[in-house]
Amino acid sequence: MNDMRKTSDEQKGAPPSDRSRRSFLGKLGWVLGGVALAEYLVVALDFVRPHGQEPGEGERHIFIAGPIGQFEPDTVTAFPSARLYLARMKDGGFLALSRTCTHLGCTVPWDPAKGRFVCPCHASAFDITGQVLNPPASRPLDRYAVRIENGVVKIDTSKALKRRSFDATQPTYA
Ligand code: FES
Repeated sequence: MNDMRKTSDEQKGAPPSDRSRRSFLGKLGWVLGGVALAEYLVVALDFVRPHGQEPGEGERHIFIAGPIGQFEPDTVTAFPSARLYLARMKDGGFLALSRTCTHLGCTVPWDPAKGRFVCPCHASAFDITGQVLNPPASRPLDRYAVRIENGVVKIDTSKALKRRSFDATQPTYA
């Protein structure tokens, strides 16, 4: 092609400086096209890359429960859309509890009159921290990590945390 253009230029009698300028511009065009293609490939590969395998901190599913003052001590608030409860204990600590019974997986409602979770399937009962009060469930309700940022309670729902018992390291305090 260049040979054809060169031949054509020579036939038209173009001066050598015009030919070298055209040659330089042609090469520059190829370089810029290559850079643009490389950028496109980087963006396209990032778009199709599977993002769900090892989520980073910012990619985790964070449920925003609300400002601290919205939750009175010794209360349980249901969040059906997130399938969990936020329990605030008497000392002000927060625990996010799965609503799934650890016996056979029924949804466990909170009974405010009795101050406990009571499973409708086989009568397992759990206290406000999720500990078993009544079998057949043999382990506490799973929990989710809670953090408080700028006075707002946030729950990481990406992973249910199983436990053998409740301990003082589990609640989150403001
Ligand atoms: S599923 Fe809850 S007690 Fe059996």
